[in-house]
Amino acid sequence: MNPPILIFDSGVGGLSVVRALRAQLPGAALAYVFDNAALPYGTKPDDWLVARIVAVCEAAVAASSARALVVACNTASTLALDALRQRLTVPVVGTVPAIKPAAALSRSGVIGLLATSATVCRPYTDRLIDQFAAGHTVVRVAADALVAQAERLIAGESLDPSVLDAGLAPLWAHPRLDTVVLGCTHFPLLKEALAARAPRPVQWVDSGDAIARRVAQVIGELNGQGHDDPQPVWSTATVSAGLVAGLARYGFPAPLRLSLEDG
Ligand code: DGL
Repeated sequence: MNPPILIFDSGVGGLSVVRALRAQLPGAALAYVFDNAALPYGTKPDDWLVARIVAVCEAAVAASSARALVVACNTASTLALDALRQRLTVPVVGTVPAIKPAAALSRSGVIGLLATSATVCRPYTDRLIDQFAAGHTVVRVAADALVAQAERLIAGESLDPSVLDAGLAPLWAHPRLDTVVLGCTHFPLLKEALAARAPRPVQWVDSGDAIARRVAQVIGELNGQGHDDPQPVWSTATVSAGLVAGLARYGFPAPLRLSLEDG
């Protein structure tokens, strides 16, 4: 079997990156791992998260014999990329909030960063803003409740419009804001629903295509073999029938259980 590219997230957010990867690398075999036992990551302490992320990724890279790991999670990438690169021998591609393209797109110079509580206040995010959005106003909005809404969407459950509205509300207090960074991989899955709740049109920017381009560079080919190979999935806790159906819509089978050394 052709070694897959392994995509990792706390939950279904990585599926937004899978979409971009399949468009960019239609021949590449993919595998997916999600840490639903620890979902959500965005409200957990940093030290605990680093150890957890390394343990899950190490176990999943071994189980999948992956040729590369895509950390399809801003919360994990802004914290644990160095630790992952120290521990793993395969190339690791991370996800960081799309501050740079958003700053380039904004005409008003006021952009929103919609992400988890962890991501909005990380030093990594501060550095991205200093480097790529100096002179812009960046409105940071922690919207952890939207993570569960994206999980609901993929599991075929209805969204709660009041949760979407409350998540977005702090953005609309800035009348000149014209661009919103979807700085959590769960959020592009909700893009249509979020745009429908917006009181005025804004540009929604995510990192999916940029990650896929980076993976293509790292893999060094545009059309790998193995399209028909099985596309295994691992989870760290049981999943609902709705989520199994949601994964199937993305071409994935029901998850296997990932065993972690520390249980
Ligand atoms: N999908 C993850 C991200 O991109 C976060 C979701 C969570 O809080 O677990 O940040």
